[in-house]
Amino acid sequence: MPAEQASERKDDHVRLAAAQQKETPRPNGWDDVRFVHHALAGVDADRVDLAVDVAGARWELPFYVNAMTGGSASTGAINRDLAIAARETGVAIASGSLSIALDNPELMGTFRVIRDENPDGFVMANVGIERSPDDARRAVEALEANALQVHVNAMQETVMPEGSRSFSSWPASLEAIVAAVEVPVVVKEVGFGLSADTLSRLGSIGVRLADVSGVGGTDFMRIENDRRSGRDYAYLAGWGQSAVECLLEAPADAPVLLASGGVRTPLDVARGLALGARAVGASGSFLSVVLDGGADALISRIREWSDHLTALHSLVGATRPDDLRRTDLIIHGRAAEYARARGID
Ligand code: FNR
Repeated sequence: MPAEQASERKDDHVRLAAAQQKETPRPNGWDDVRFVHHALAGVDADRVDLAVDVAGARWELPFYVNAMTGGSASTGAINRDLAIAARETGVAIASGSLSIALDNPELMGTFRVIRDENPDGFVMANVGIERSPDDARRAVEALEANALQVHVNAMQETVMPEGSRSFSSWPASLEAIVAAVEVPVVVKEVGFGLSADTLSRLGSIGVRLADVSGVGGTDFMRIENDRRSGRDYAYLAGWGQSAVECLLEAPADAPVLLASGGVRTPLDVARGLALGARAVGASGSFLSVVLDGGADALISRIREWSDHLTALHSLVGATRPDDLRRTDLIIHGRAAEYARARGID
C-alpha cells in the first residue's frame, strides 16, 4: 500500500475509534464482575503499593497505555502526547503497529517520538504476527523497546477492505519472531479475546506474556466496516470474548496475563487484576482524553486512576495488586453463562 494511503488508514482508525468513545456508554463484560463488599475488611491506604513485576521489570502502576497509533503526521503528534503522559506518570506504553514504518522508513519518526519523549520508560513496540523475524528485530531496535507486542487480528483482517485471508502461517511466523527477538514477546488481540486453547498454544510456543484484549471496548470490526464501501459485515457485532471471559477460562499453562478491551475506570482495572491479570491496558478511553485535552489531560487522568486504584485496594483490604486475587468476587450475566458453557466452576 502506498505510504499516503497507509497514513490515511491510520488517521481513519483514530477518527473512528474516537467517534466510538463519544457514543452513549453501554455496559460491557467488566460489569459482569462484582466485588463482595466486606465492611470491616479495609486497610490503610498508605500501606498500598501498586507496583507490579512485568517481564522482569518493575511497573510503578498496574495499568498501561496500550497499542494505538503512529504512521502519519497527526498520529505522530498523538504518540508524542501519549509518551509525555507515560513519562510524567511512570506508566508503561505501547506503540501502534510499526508495520507502516517498516515498509516506509520515512514514517519511523512518528513512532520513535515515543522513545525520544520517554527515554527511561517501559516501551513496547508492536508488529503484526505476519511480519518477518528481521522486521520484528528492527521494530524493537527502532524504539529501543523493552518488550515486543505481536498483535493477532484475524477478525480485523477479515473485515478490512485490504485485509489478509491467509492465516495458516501465523503460528509458525510467531514462533520465528519469538526465537528472533531478545526482549519478551507479548501476544495481544485487538479486541476479540484470546481463548483457553489460544493461551495454551502461546504458552507452548514460549510466549511469556499475553494480553487477552477482549470485546466490549474499541470495536475494530466496526472501524473496518465503516471504512468499506459495499458489502457490510455489521452483522458480526459482538464477535469474540470479553477480557473477563478470557481471564476466567485462562488455563494453568497460559503465559503471564495482561488484560484489556473496554477498560473505562479504575474499577475495571481492579476487576482485571482480581481475575488474575498482572496489569491492565487501556487504549480507546485514553485516546479520547488525549484528543480532547492533550498530554496534560492524560497526565491528570492517569494520576486520578492511580489515586482511585489505591483507594479501591484500601477499601477491599488489598495492600498489593496481587492481594486482589484473594478478594471475593461474584461473576454474573454473560460471563457467568460463558463460564458455565465452557465448564469452568
Ligand atoms: C488500536 N489497537 C491496536 N492494537 C495493536 O496491537 N496494534 C495497533 O496498531 C493498534 N491500533 C489501534 C488504533 C487505535 C486508534 C485504537 C483505539 C486501538 C487495539 C488496542 O491496542 C486494543 O487492543 C483495543 O483497542 C481494545 O482496547 P480498548 O480500546 O477498548 O481499551
